[in-house]
Amino acid sequence: MAKDLSQTGPHHVAIIMDGNGRWATQRGRPRLFGHHAGAKRVREIVEACPDLGVKYLTIFAFSTENWKRTQTEVAGLMSLFRRYIQREAHALFEEGVRVRFIGDRIKLDDKLVTLMDELELLTADNDKVHLTIALNYGGRDEVARATKRLAYEVAAGRLDPKDVNDETLARFLDTYVLPDPDLVIRTSGEARISNFLLWQSAYAEYEFIDTLWPDFSAHEFAGLIDNYSQRDRRFGAVNT
Ligand code: FPP
Repeated sequence: MAKDLSQTGPHHVAIIMDGNGRWATQRGRPRLFGHHAGAKRVREIVEACPDLGVKYLTIFAFSTENWKRTQTEVAGLMSLFRRYIQREAHALFEEGVRVRFIGDRIKLDDKLVTLMDELELLTADNDKVHLTIALNYGGRDEVARATKRLAYEVAAGRLDPKDVNDETLARFLDTYVLPDPDLVIRTSGEARISNFLLWQSAYAEYEFIDTLWPDFSAHEFAGLIDNYSQRDRRFGAVNT
């Protein structure tokens, strides 16, 4: 009998979509060609989530460190994000996907931020899959921004320093409405977490796979979900 993945599978999966550049280089094409191919995979993976029992999917689209890439690549990625939102908004809405963005919006251009706000608003009542896109996101940056907001609350007398603990701090993170990820996947053979969801992934399971992101398929995704459902998560405790 098929396993009920909504019981045994990961509720929240986070993905570091790596390998677009190498995928393009292997084909003698510019890096942006790989990013465009990578963007196309996102829909297939989002669509696979409901049947796999994945309610929350969080994807790393642009890190606080990615500004160090060439101006051409950064501008190309920003234009890709704008076009992706414009092109996919309707389908995401129709498919019941609720979209959120995490990361610092301050460095993003106004047009992109407006599109992000509009997509969040358009999909705010959806509940089939919760897709979170990390854009200008860094885990350390997120904790620093959260700490700054918390410090302002303390300074304003609305929060007693004695009440600050891990739950209080988590309320100031970009992800405060999301459950912690159960499974973090990184494609392209690199075994690093690259500043992604540092706080939230404290007890996550990890899968580092060789596939380059533009080749990642719903079939491979399903295999990883199945692996996860065989694992024994103890959260620091022992099984009785
Ligand atoms: C890492 O590959 C990928 C990125 C920095 C960008 C991720 C973006 C996408 C998958 C496309 C768009 C996403 C959305 C939500 C529209 P890399 O360039 O570091 O690859 P490399 O390690 O082979 O150079």
